[in-house]
Amino acid sequence: MSGTDFGTEPDAGTVYLVGSGPGDPELLTCKARRLLEQADFVLHDKLPGPKIIDLLPDDRRKDVGKRAHGDRTPQSEINELLVQHARDGQSVVRLKGGDSFVFGRGGEEAEYLAAHGIPFEVVPAVTSAVAAPAVAGIPVTHRDHASSVSFVTGHEDPTKPESTVNWAALADTGGTIVVLMGVTRLPDYTDALLEAGMPAETPVALVERATWPNQQVATGTLETIVDARDSVGIEPPAITVIGDVAGTRESVVEFLANESAAGASDSATSTRE
Ligand SMILES: C[S@@+](CC[C@H](N)C(=O)[O-])C[C@H]1O[C@@H](n2cnc3c(N)ncnc32)[C@H](O)[C@@H]1O
Repeated sequence: MSGTDFGTEPDAGTVYLVGSGPGDPELLTCKARRLLEQADFVLHDKLPGPKIIDLLPDDRRKDVGKRAHGDRTPQSEINELLVQHARDGQSVVRLKGGDSFVFGRGGEEAEYLAAHGIPFEVVPAVTSAVAAPAVAGIPVTHRDHASSVSFVTGHEDPTKPESTVNWAALADTGGTIVVLMGVTRLPDYTDALLEAGMPAETPVALVERATWPNQQVATGTLETIVDARDSVGIEPPAITVIGDVAGTRESVVEFLANESAAGASDSATSTRE
């Protein structure tokens, strides 16, 4: 037994920590789809996107994302809900956008369930960190351009005096940098990378709501991407891809069917080259 002294709960239902992928229901894994159909209850937030959330029956789901006034439901409350539903003998799906174990607090939920004797299963998924660049025609690695990739958060506590992300070390790797939760603080970390000596002409792309009906892409360089963000009107959720791989989009975009497939209409998809 790990953590605290709760022992195993013999009659508890199982909690499935399921990733939804980036938002296209066809990118749900077969297992995720089956579990969503069979679950007694689903706890989700907004990140799985409207197409996947619309598949869930209203009487068997609860949105535990942001509350009415924009505050986030505390993680402690979500953990407790998972335990309560499982103790009622229910089969529970905790559905998160992308992969639950990539900036998804899946690890915290797993620890809490284990400490409370609740059986759980982890169902891995397609993370937006790879899928969002991919659907915009950008591979996160490429034999000619990048042999490593780093996944980092752009959302840091603004009250912290210093960034906990070592942007200078990331600039030094020469590999691709993929930033999650990085729309608002884009000016801060592009400046940090420039200060660390990364060339101003390094290609950068922003991919918003990848595979959702209103997917948008903005492209530029370390020096121009903030203006590109503003002129396209990129908003969260979006992925930032920094590195030479972002420049390869230009050679494929003319033939790339993903963007028109994601958008309800071509006019819903803005692209700035
Ligand atoms: C809390 S993190 C969760 C990441 C998620 N667990 C994953 O593996 O994709 C939220 C961030 O994921 C990214 N994200 C998730 N879904 C996305 C999508 N469909 N398009 C673009 N970015 C997405 C954005 O950077 C967003 O701010």
